[in-house]
Amino acid sequence: MCGISGAVGHKDISQDLFEGIRNLEYRGYDSCGVALMNSTKLIVRKNIGGVEEFYQKENVLRHKSHLGIAHTRWATHGKVTRENTHPMLSTDKAFAVVHNGIISNYRELRSKLQKDGVKFVSETDTEVVPHLMQKLFKQTGNVEKAFVKMLGMLEGTYAVVLITKYHPDVIFCARKESPLMLGIGDEVKYVGSDFNAFIEHTKNAVIIEDEEYVVLTRDSYTVKNFITGEEIQKPITKIEWDSETSKKGGYPHYMLKEIYEQPQTILNALEVDEKALDDVVDYMKDRPTYLVGVGTTFYVAKYAKYIFSRLAGRFFPSISSDEFVALSPVDRNSLVLAISQSGETYDTLTALKHAKAKGAKTAAIVNVIGSTLSRMVDRVILQGSGPEICVISTKAALAQMVILTNLAMRLALKTRKMTKKEYNEGIRALKEMPEIIGNVLNERSGFIHRIANNYKNIKHWLYLGRGIYYPVALESALKMKEVAYVHAEGMPGGFLKHGTLAMIDKDIYSVVFMPPPCEKELYQSTLSSVAEIRARSGFVLGIHFDERGKNRDLFSEELILPAVPPLVAPLLQLVLAQLFAYFTATSLKRNVDKPRSLAKSVTVG
Ligand code: F6R
Repeated sequence: MCGISGAVGHKDISQDLFEGIRNLEYRGYDSCGVALMNSTKLIVRKNIGGVEEFYQKENVLRHKSHLGIAHTRWATHGKVTRENTHPMLSTDKAFAVVHNGIISNYRELRSKLQKDGVKFVSETDTEVVPHLMQKLFKQTGNVEKAFVKMLGMLEGTYAVVLITKYHPDVIFCARKESPLMLGIGDEVKYVGSDFNAFIEHTKNAVIIEDEEYVVLTRDSYTVKNFITGEEIQKPITKIEWDSETSKKGGYPHYMLKEIYEQPQTILNALEVDEKALDDVVDYMKDRPTYLVGVGTTFYVAKYAKYIFSRLAGRFFPSISSDEFVALSPVDRNSLVLAISQSGETYDTLTALKHAKAKGAKTAAIVNVIGSTLSRMVDRVILQGSGPEICVISTKAALAQMVILTNLAMRLALKTRKMTKKEYNEGIRALKEMPEIIGNVLNERSGFIHRIANNYKNIKHWLYLGRGIYYPVALESALKMKEVAYVHAEGMPGGFLKHGTLAMIDKDIYSVVFMPPPCEKELYQSTLSSVAEIRARSGFVLGIHFDERGKNRDLFSEELILPAVPPLVAPLLQLVLAQLFAYFTATSLKRNVDKPRSLAKSVTVG
């Protein structure tokens, strides 16, 4: 979950490197550092803090160089200190290394090196790499050989990038279960933990696979397998995202920009490759299917569970990726469908590996092209939502819900649980969504801002929904927790009277996700939860579609949405709840795009 950027060129690359890690900051941002080649000397600057602050404080850009590596860190091994910040150096200062992932056998390696007299300056797992390189280079006299030997000694997961004064024009890098790719520019060659490291300069990427290493120069790249030594010809992948899409485009935060991009994201979600959808439907038709994700994507999976049940009459359990192996429910007849924005989430990858080992079929809905998950599954649906930079997932999650709705309708059509007419109506409702969401964002955001500001000091919220509105309540509560650091608990409405009701008084605030009145039973039962709270002097913010309803007096405060078909009603409410969390966070002056303790892709377990 850290960011890596490296560059070697015919020109000064220090600015490119700076932009590279700044664009990767969403992956981790508690400290950062850079190593630049100065003829045959390494200049290393690193410190705690964000990228811009660090570059300014240390005046890093005054150092010019044609080759360098940089890193932005999200601490896993060792505290947030200057010493624990990458790059890590060998004792003789000949090797500088940046690394993502976890070297699981670092304690053994460290104590062996310590026995040889090596003094460690950090608590990190990474530091074993430069020290091992120093030792192995002494034995072999050849950097590439030492690098391959060193890789053979590492266990765990890594993307590792190394430069050395012995080859001042070369970057060495390798990957095992942690993303790494090259950017092939004319004058400069790049390496990065994802496209954002170099997207401003080139759209030609080469995706590095597990057990591959690269010798990268300003004019060439050679990729080999570090187990077999075999050279591998790699195709160039064209990145379709542009760097403008990655920027804030006038919004104060990426989160707001990404919320406002949702009409477009839905259009994109409705245009995903139909064959990819039908391939997954074919798998689902006659297989027990498990829906897997974690954090937001677990709630997306929960949402999908209701959708598949409602539309296609199938029960697909949803399981949080981190619990999947413990439950171990799969065999060779099953399908596991994973959902992931980044395609690099450790828990989800682990669940998928387990499923594969059991012989299950695998599929995924993924946003990031070329990500590990997208390449490891049997069938993939690329959701095409564009870069999601804010650590908090908004547009990617909504797009996944739309795609899953579409999948459920296609499955229902194929298994004759839905007529063609019903299917067409469903698609029409989804296609009308972008315009409705666009209007809601434009017309209601001022009002939501005011409500969020009024209630910004509330310490505890209950988020309640019934049926398919329950996962929406869960996901909305998660948004509030992670961006505003305000306690919000998602719960099924019916659950309230089985315990939590005891807590309700005038100090407990609730948000209730009301279904449209046409869903009579669900509407009435949700209304009874509202009445239970109000009877105990509890506060209720109702998110509802009932402009003229006679029950509106029950709500202490209300957010009213335009009437829409039930298929899309929960999605519209989610957009509103995203805005409510966003404005609460800005009213509390939170670090919206980079909330404390969170990282965009959680590539550790
Ligand atoms: C919440 C959030 C996280 C991610 C989770 C899975 O806003 O962003 O809960 O949803 O870490 O990440 P992906 O979707 O990249 O697998």
